Amino acid sequence: MATAAVIPAAGAGARLGRGMPKALVCLNGEPLLVHAVRGTLASSVVDEVVVVAPEAHLDQVRALLSDHRRDSDSDRAVSVVAGGPDRVDSVRAGLAVLDPTIRFVLVHDAARCLAPGAVFRRVHQALAGGAQAVIPVLPLVDTVKFVEPVTAAPDGADDLESAIQGTVVGTPSRSGLRIVQTPQGFDRELLQRAHRDAAAAGISATDDAMLVERLGVPVATVAGDERSMKITSRKDLAIAELLLSSPS
Ligand code: CTP
Ligand code: MG
Repeated sequence: MATAAVIPAAGAGARLGRGMPKALVCLNGEPLLVHAVRGTLASSVVDEVVVVAPEAHLDQVRALLSDHRRDSDSDRAVSVVAGGPDRVDSVRAGLAVLDPTIRFVLVHDAARCLAPGAVFRRVHQALAGGAQAVIPVLPLVDTVKFVEPVTAAPDGADDLESAIQGTVVGTPSRSGLRIVQTPQGFDRELLQRAHRDAAAAGISATDDAMLVERLGVPVATVAGDERSMKITSRKDLAIAELLLSSPS
């Protein structure tokens, strides 16, 4: 059954602070997006790739990917479309151009450009086995707390600098919590319905599974991988360089 990958790569990369979209920042001499597309195609479970790029960089991204593909032996379709202001808009733009034959969609952040093929295959296998939505996850290493932020300085302390940021209001059990990664896999029709529904309700989301959860559809989990880390800051870029140079 035909499977597509939608790769949202249209973010500004503000936290990385390189003055260019994060997907175009180089890791070991190649843009993150090239690593992400290469890893996606190498997983062997994807028939079509839709890259969602910043509108102002469409020509640059198209040229970059056609150069890369000339050097690779893959004949699978890779197309590039313009993204929107939020990640959710960019994913929606990618979904809108999928070939009608596509049955499964893997949504994969360009910022997680070192995700191993095995993770794509685990997600795909769960879809092929009947799951409608699948996400790769990892256990948490840190304890997590609910915190109520301090909103106003206490009476009489207006001009005192306080280091206190908030008050703890609870501690969820770590054993039931997971860190969530991409690629996230979905039945194509379900994901498109979830996005349509969320847009109509004016709801945004930081991942696609959230939109499917709203519809009451179960989301299955498979094992993620540390190499699927999201590159957000300069420190992450340094860690990614290290991961690239160390044996998997
Ligand atoms: N993304 C996108 N369209 C947007 C915002 C984000 O396609 N309007 C993509 C990013 O390119 C990235 C993924 O979604 O591959 C995850 O987003 P994030 O890590 O937040 O990347 P940026 O938005 O680029 O970074 P920042 O938030 O620091 O600006
Ligand atoms: Mg962002």
